[in-house]
Amino acid sequence: MTAPEPYPPAARPLLAHPGSRPLSGTIRVPGDKSISHRALMFGALAVGETRISGLLDGEDVLRTAAAMRALGAEVIQDGPDAWRVAGRGIGGLIEPADVLDMGNSGTAARLLCGILASHPIFAVMTGDASLRRRPMRRVTDPLAACGARFTAREGGRLPLAVEGAREALPLEYRVPVASAQVKSALLLAGLNAPGLTRIEEPAATRDHSENMLRHFGATLTVEAAGEGRIVTLAGQPELRAADILVPGDPSSAAFPLVAALLVADSAITITGVGLNPLRTGLLDCLREMGADLAIVNPRTEGGEPVGDVTARHGPLRGADIPPGRAPSMIDEYPILAVAAASAQGVTRMRGLAELRVKESDRLAATAALLAANGVRVEIDGDDLIVHGTGRPPAGGGLVETHMDHRLAMSGLVLGLSAAAPVRVDDTAFIETSFPGFAALMRSTGAMLEAA
Ligand code: S3P
Repeated sequence: MTAPEPYPPAARPLLAHPGSRPLSGTIRVPGDKSISHRALMFGALAVGETRISGLLDGEDVLRTAAAMRALGAEVIQDGPDAWRVAGRGIGGLIEPADVLDMGNSGTAARLLCGILASHPIFAVMTGDASLRRRPMRRVTDPLAACGARFTAREGGRLPLAVEGAREALPLEYRVPVASAQVKSALLLAGLNAPGLTRIEEPAATRDHSENMLRHFGATLTVEAAGEGRIVTLAGQPELRAADILVPGDPSSAAFPLVAALLVADSAITITGVGLNPLRTGLLDCLREMGADLAIVNPRTEGGEPVGDVTARHGPLRGADIPPGRAPSMIDEYPILAVAAASAQGVTRMRGLAELRVKESDRLAATAALLAANGVRVEIDGDDLIVHGTGRPPAGGGLVETHMDHRLAMSGLVLGLSAAAPVRVDDTAFIETSFPGFAALMRSTGAMLEAA
């Protein structure tokens, strides 16, 4: 047996060089992170064996797999992206013998709070330094209404302990911020409560939980309500194991696609990218900025829309990005800001308050990433304003990633498109969502070297 990797991993600095040659190729990106977490969790709550292919084999998802095992589900990896989960049925999870360590993953931690809230068990959860800074009361406060008791550090932060409800009550809640994690946590709790759980969200957020619940046989209705939606779940269904095909993660595809748009004469095709309309806000923004993007071979795989996306280099112009776009591209602002840095004119991205509570304060860190590389950038309230010049940014700076995978990948793409190389202080956290990122980018011609 090999010893487990130490965690957090040793810092891995990389230097990204502006290309002397174009980027090209047809590639695949790893499986969707949101869908991968949910596949393992719903599989663990179903009766029978769920086979999953295309699962993201990244650190975040491995934490969810380990937690589901600790709660009594059988989770087996058969191949590089082929997994099986033998579920215990709703309400059937058992008390974990040790602390559940969710690493860097907010999705894993928050969705797990929902599962634990309606199981009559005691559990303690922690995470790495980034996750221990993130707000958890957005899930623990509403989940307490089902009868669960949470005790946590100041501000509701991890580590936290939960005593799940013996007989959970159904929840009725209006989520104050647009958050698929909060919505999903409440739906997961509602699975083991009798009667109807009714969740209203102020704006439509990614609906992978809803899709997967239906796929496993739950009864669920979704109604429009103003800008948002009301999701109503009939409690205590029997979830039946169902096979899952995980599409490529559009949030991961974003990095090679933007790299191709920015590096002269490049063209990259990514096959099998998830194109759920609640995830494709970045593609809309890039098109408004004049990007040459083509989608071919649209199809449905495992209940989710999928297609092959090609990005070709060309000039971009600044755009005004409305706040209503945020839920459909919440993880894509750092890479959009990198694209905006090379565009001609001002790009204003509005309503980014939620970025302050991601793996890092992504609003401040994205502005710092650009400023350190000669880009004029401002934060005005919750808006990020990038002044593009229509030319490659100067580069030559250091990007501080603050344990945040998406900042690391954005910094590397900036370096590929800048006038001078960009150094990224730590790329180790890229493993949470996009294992093999540097190697895949090198396969398209990118110059990324250990620094
Ligand atoms: C996710 C929802 C989003 C997103 C995260 C994944 C999910 O978080 O940023 O990467 O899988 O539900 P919020 O719910 O905090 O917006």
